[in-house]
Amino acid sequence: MSGPGLRSSVSGSKTMQLINKVALVTGAGSGIGRASALAFAQAGAAVVLAGRTWEKIHAVAAEIEAAGGQAHPVQAHVADGSSVRALVEATVQRFGGLDILFQNAGISPVGTVTEISEEEWDECIAIDLRSVFLGAKYAIPHMQRRGGGVILNTAGTFGLRACRGKAAYAAAKAGVVNLTRAIALDYARDNIRCNVVCPGYVDTPLNDGFAPAERDPFLQQYQPLPGLIQAEEVAQLALYLASDAANMITGQTFVIDGGQQAGIF
Ligand SMILES: NC(=O)c1ccc[n+]([C@@H]2O[C@H](COP(=O)([O-])OP(=O)(O)OC[C@H]3O[C@@H](n4cnc5c(N)ncnc54)[C@H](O)[C@@H]3O)[C@@H](O)[C@H]2O)c1
Repeated sequence: MSGPGLRSSVSGSKTMQLINKVALVTGAGSGIGRASALAFAQAGAAVVLAGRTWEKIHAVAAEIEAAGGQAHPVQAHVADGSSVRALVEATVQRFGGLDILFQNAGISPVGTVTEISEEEWDECIAIDLRSVFLGAKYAIPHMQRRGGGVILNTAGTFGLRACRGKAAYAAAKAGVVNLTRAIALDYARDNIRCNVVCPGYVDTPLNDGFAPAERDPFLQQYQPLPGLIQAEEVAQLALYLASDAANMITGQTFVIDGGQQAGIF
């Protein structure tokens, strides 16, 4: 099948490749960000790894380079405008542009509105939601100059339905879901796509405080599929959405939760 209506990039084995693409991944030192940075690099992208802890992002960069890929670690605080701006500039300077921005860094604090302080609320909204505004704000002009790009955000199933005891997180992630749609609409004509990934419970350091004795009954009740979702499985979804295989998909929410959102438990 061929013809002017078909985009040549969507064919054969190249659909999930990121050859000649420049990707910036936040929260790249661990969990979903690390797995996605590795997957993007393996698919051919040059990857900038952003995070707060130098040792962690440096180690992931070394892993990518040892496998023959291109990586550049940059220490950044995603809730800080000047830091995000500098991060985007460093990406463009190092690799000549920016094609894919995966806004994945986040925190997941616990507490109801009466339990958490104003400072805890502000910190969660800043790291989980303001960061997405900042990254898009500073990356989009570069993508416009390049003729297009992809923004991918990480929210979570708690951004789709609330969970008891996670008020700030639920609010921030719900904001990420609708901000994704707003960005998708505002920049579609610039050929910039924006989608959001909503994982359920993923086996990452974010959940280190959740002891198996408490976790397993929780998953038994809320996650229909057996097993723990791995960061690498979320990374494959991110890779698909970042690639040209998804080039007509924008403004959408992608749930990877072992069936949690399928029903009422
Ligand atoms: N693990 C889960 O069950 C789960 C479920 C739903 C959504 N998520 C989301 O997935 C994303 C990735 O989390 P993860 O599970 O891989 O956990 P993780 O803790 O391994 O990764 C989060 C990363 O973000 C970084 N980070 C935090 N604040 C930052 C800041 N201000 N500036 C720069 N980097 C910062 C951390 O250092 C860490 O490397 C988060 O947005 C999280 O909310 C995770």
